[in-house]
Amino acid sequence: MSQNLPPPLPSLVPDTAPFSDEQRAWLNGFFAGLVSLDGSGITPLSNDQAAALLSGTLPNGKNAEDDDGGAPWHDQTLPLTERMKLAETKPLRWKMMAAMAQQDCGQCGYDCKNYSGAIIAGKEERLNLCVPGGKETARMVKKLHEELKSAPPASSPTPLVELAPAAPQGAPGCSRDNPVVAKALSARRLNKPGSEKETWHVEFDLTASGLDYTVGDSFGLFPSNEPALVDAVIKALGAPPNFPIGGRTLRECLHDDVSLSPAPDMLFQLFSYITGGDRRKMARALATGEDPHGDAATLDVLAAIEKFPGIRPDPEAFIEALDALQPRLYSISSSPKANPGRVALTVDAVRYKIGQRARFGVCSTYLADRIKPGAKVRVYAQKAHSFGLPADPSVPIVMIGPGTGVAPFRAFLQERQATKAPGRNWLFFGHQRSGCDFFYEDEFKAMKDAGFLTRLSLAWSRDGDQKIYVQDRMREVGRDLWSWLTYGAHIYVCGDAKRMAKDVELALVDIVAQHGARTPEEATAFVGDLKKKGRYQQDVY
Ligand SMILES: Cc1cc2nc3c(=O)[nH]c(=O)nc-3n(C[C@H](O)[C@H](O)[C@H](O)COP(=O)(O)OP(=O)(O)OC[C@H]3O[C@@H](n4cnc5c(N)ncnc54)[C@H](O)[C@@H]3O)c2cc1C
Ligand SMILES: NC(=O)c1ccc[n+]([C@@H]2O[C@H](COP(=O)([O-])OP(=O)(O)OC[C@H]3O[C@@H](n4cnc5c(N)ncnc54)[C@H](OP(=O)(O)O)[C@@H]3O)[C@@H](O)[C@H]2O)c1
Repeated sequence: MSQNLPPPLPSLVPDTAPFSDEQRAWLNGFFAGLVSLDGSGITPLSNDQAAALLSGTLPNGKNAEDDDGGAPWHDQTLPLTERMKLAETKPLRWKMMAAMAQQDCGQCGYDCKNYSGAIIAGKEERLNLCVPGGKETARMVKKLHEELKSAPPASSPTPLVELAPAAPQGAPGCSRDNPVVAKALSARRLNKPGSEKETWHVEFDLTASGLDYTVGDSFGLFPSNEPALVDAVIKALGAPPNFPIGGRTLRECLHDDVSLSPAPDMLFQLFSYITGGDRRKMARALATGEDPHGDAATLDVLAAIEKFPGIRPDPEAFIEALDALQPRLYSISSSPKANPGRVALTVDAVRYKIGQRARFGVCSTYLADRIKPGAKVRVYAQKAHSFGLPADPSVPIVMIGPGTGVAPFRAFLQERQATKAPGRNWLFFGHQRSGCDFFYEDEFKAMKDAGFLTRLSLAWSRDGDQKIYVQDRMREVGRDLWSWLTYGAHIYVCGDAKRMAKDVELALVDIVAQHGARTPEEATAFVGDLKKKGRYQQDVY
């Protein structure tokens, strides 16, 4: 019988190649399949193939661990569950990426791919830096990190190539880990009376900071918490405000160092250790992401303490259970060429109410309400991930920025005006009401009158019975937009990530299909190609 069996397959992967047994078996099967496709049986690997294997590279030039299969989860509009499903058959490295919010917003100091890569490579220990992903992402990242730590070496191969650079430290002022000090200059409200929005134009003096930036970059700053909220937390804790913690007081720690919203899992875990009975069960449930009373999403730190009346954690343990207060990013709305030594931001103040208590966005209200002219703030410039003016100043640009999304386009226009760039400029701006929400109206109108701003298309969503959005205006002038595209225009989109960015992209696909005489599939591929070529750039949040 044994004489009728085919001879065992020779190993096509050299024993010295840096693969686990599992990977070696998979690769042997893969190559055996490849080389026998023409029916000629197994042929030895070429020297190049063997060399590629020795360096851990697949024949398509990719490392086995590096092949993300096109990263289908890299879409900020997909919920976490769908992103994880798309990555479920992929190595842990890509599941980790899928857990991130996919905005490439830079708040963590990386983009989504490099932050996840840095965690997997053990170069980044902070697992809760994905701000747009919130607690959902933080929990998933923690779970995947546990898997990474507990996986046997065979199923958790050492990364074969550098997965990601360490967090870029750079020169002072160039990263969140190396901020500099800037001086607050002014904050003025951009909406006129009658507006439902509260948006501020905020300026900082950078002269003493040495900080430099390019239009398209974002400005990072470290806020502090609202003093009234800090005092309410201290009162609810029943602790003395000057309780000493590591050379600082409890009040100082709460004001400057920790996030007071949302309540982290660790806080509920701490509560579960120091309380009993049903309260312990409730704390445990909340610590694992359950929502026993349907209010978990509303629990900031104060509401969490109030949910466990009389709870008295040790102040130091309490501070340790909270997340660090993260910096926030704002698109820069000025050009250093037009305003040397200064930077401007366009900030929407986040205020809302839950139950009887008003809640305030930490940083936006810090900028709107609390910093006074002359105040010193820790800041940095976050380099844009592929968001900037074309290198050739004669290239036409189309900018689509409703609401605060207009910020980087004010900067682009200032820059192109200061440098006398000959390229045509087209701005789509939209907001609620023309009478009170037309940010920088005088500036844009003056640019238009001067012939520098070639076209200004405006969309007001609450002026009439019908909502008009920027993408409606785009469709109305689709033929002209297509014409600009044929002249090589770059398209830029900034603002809301969840709805607007997707709708604007869909409108552009429709315009390309209609005026570029393409099928919907071809139009989608066309826009995809614009993205790859850097001619469709987004800065969304
Ligand atoms: C690259 C980038 C550029 C950005 N540029 C700008 C910009 O130019 N201008 C700008 O204004 N912002 C911009 N942002 C957003 C900005 O970074 C902050 O996220 C924003 O100001 C809110 O921060 P905050 O600290 O004020 O609020 P936080 O304290 O972080 O609170 C915000 C959170 O409050 C909750 N929340 C908000 N509203 C409600 C509600 N109605 N009901 C219940 N919960 C609610 C949500 O959980 C929300 O995430 C940008 C973000 C990125 C990543
Ligand atoms: N992380 C945060 O806490 C935070 C803080 C600030 C801003 N943001 C995000 O940034 C976005 C920008 O806020 P903003 O105050 O500048 O303005 P905004 O809320 O985006 O509103 C700007 C204009 O866009 C319109 N709009 C709404 N849905 C749209 C869509 N699908 N397509 C095109 N336009 C649409 C609005 O109309 P209507 O409102 O009349 O429908 C309004 O006229 C917010 O939506 C939010 O997602 C987040």
